[in-house]
Amino acid sequence: MTDAAQQPIGVFDSGVGGLSVLQALRAELPYERFVYLADSGNAPYGERGDAFVAARTQAIGDHLCAQHHIKALVVACNTATAAAIHEARARHPQLPLVGVEPALKPAVAATRTGRIGVIGTRGTLSSHKFARLLASLQGQAEFIVQPCNGLAHAIERSTAVPPAGVQDATEIRALCARYTGAMGRFGSSPGEIDTLVLGCTHYVFAQEVLRDLLGPEVTLIATGEPVARQTRRLLQAAGTLAAESGPPPPPQERIRLLTTGALAPLQNAAHRWLQLPAQCCATVDVPQPR
Ligand code: DGL
Repeated sequence: MTDAAQQPIGVFDSGVGGLSVLQALRAELPYERFVYLADSGNAPYGERGDAFVAARTQAIGDHLCAQHHIKALVVACNTATAAAIHEARARHPQLPLVGVEPALKPAVAATRTGRIGVIGTRGTLSSHKFARLLASLQGQAEFIVQPCNGLAHAIERSTAVPPAGVQDATEIRALCARYTGAMGRFGSSPGEIDTLVLGCTHYVFAQEVLRDLLGPEVTLIATGEPVARQTRRLLQAAGTLAAESGPPPPPQERIRLLTTGALAPLQNAAHRWLQLPAQCCATVDVPQPR
């Protein structure tokens, strides 16, 4: 095992959404250390524009490399991947880098009716990268694409302390109902949308609401697990996979969560979604270079 194998894997998102990817990473790679950076001080990214998102992605990638000596970077944000993954690869040519994109190919494999819904941020769904992905699958299924302005922000806000509770839950449900309602009928009969791609990592945390609204016949597709498997493959190829012997270290010893926003919402999200203690979390300043 090389020294690099001991280094953490960096994971980053505009906010708490990428914790859904971290969940899959920690299950797939129980011996690895992770440093997760939530840019909650600047979330949401989806309605910000490419130049801003690209600048934040580069600043955070640089910070994770310089301060945490990461051995790989997972960009757990569809919006940042669409806006900036090419530049990040060019900037860190030696670093294994994994991005996330809406899982259209698995959706094509899963659909029976041939009608697939895709929800994501405006930034992701209006990107050239997404247009190319869609074009590559032309003729294989019909895609109904719906940007969900405000949904990631509502999920982000639902981690606030003290919790707004019912108000947040109602807003998330109302947004999910409005956007899926605009896409047409969901179900397993001919002509209905039977598969919904969650093209934003935040939306995984609205899964129960979506399932309740759309019914049990609709398949929801997220990207955490394939991203985790791809991360394992890249580490294996680089020879930097952590040694996998003996009992895995407890999560609080191998996972560090950082935020550019307020601490309490991250602690709340970490506890609620990842069962991690508050001591795993800290704030961080990642200024924009001039
Ligand atoms: N979680 C992010 C994504 O997957 C971005 C949400 C946002 O900040 O708008 O696209």
